Amino acid sequence: MTEAAGKEKEPLISLRGIHKIYYMGDEEVRANDGIDLEIREGEFVAIVGKSGSGKSTLMNIIGALDVPTDGEYCLGGQDVSDMTDNELAEIRNRMIGFVFQQYNLLPKLNLLENVELPLLYAGLDAKERREKALASLERVGLKEKWRNYPNQLSGGQQQRVSIARALAGNPSLILADEPTGALDSKTGREVLDFLKKLNEDGNTIVMITHDNAIAVEARRVVRIHDGQINFDGDVKDYAAIL
Ligand SMILES: Nc1ncnc2c1ncn2[C@@H]1O[C@H](COP(=O)(O)OP(=O)(O)O)[C@@H](O)[C@H]1O
Ligand SMILES: [Mg+2]
Repeated sequence: MTEAAGKEKEPLISLRGIHKIYYMGDEEVRANDGIDLEIREGEFVAIVGKSGSGKSTLMNIIGALDVPTDGEYCLGGQDVSDMTDNELAEIRNRMIGFVFQQYNLLPKLNLLENVELPLLYAGLDAKERREKALASLERVGLKEKWRNYPNQLSGGQQQRVSIARALAGNPSLILADEPTGALDSKTGREVLDFLKKLNEDGNTIVMITHDNAIAVEARRVVRIHDGQINFDGDVKDYAAIL
């Protein structure tokens, strides 16, 4: 098999037999209890489940923020399951753009500097950082405001800046944790529409949510319950069972 053909076949994300067990005194909590999941480039997947079902645990593993107790995780063909913290930080910075519910923008940095941050960690020089960060702000319609500070923006605008920051390094995966959780429904809708557009442009998106009304905006839904997947399929099939 040629290298190109091999790359095409390989999923971007491959989780096999993932367990994450927390020990609370002598009690064990199986936060992820045998997760098998493959996600290909270009997909828009919602991971949905009630509070306590294991979403954040799974997101931390997919996002290379934590490693599983047991099982195998390959991201872009690289085995992440037992990487050191430094190796995790490197692959995270290179491959994943994070979008958080609370935006996580730094208040003392202007918008341009916020968006430049991951590029700084990636080691780009000042000129490249500025060019890429401005291009990214332009994609979310906020280029003109680059000198502004986060607290001068609305919640929806701040979330767009955090999306610009996630996009700046051209990551393989956008990982969004309850991206509309802090927004009113109209602004939340705008952010969702923007994520959909990014997916149509070819970006792979994994979105974590507790809300079925948000999950049905993705193209594929994975539902997690007590640390296990109990639905994985096309959004149309998911909507039909709600
Ligand atoms: N660091 C931790 N230590 C102990 N238990 C944890 C920890 N993190 C999560 N849990 C437990 O694991 C289960 C899944 O939690 P979590 O992944 O946060 O679910 P969700 O994000 O869907 O609400 C819950 O029972 C939670 O209490
Ligand atoms: Mg959670």
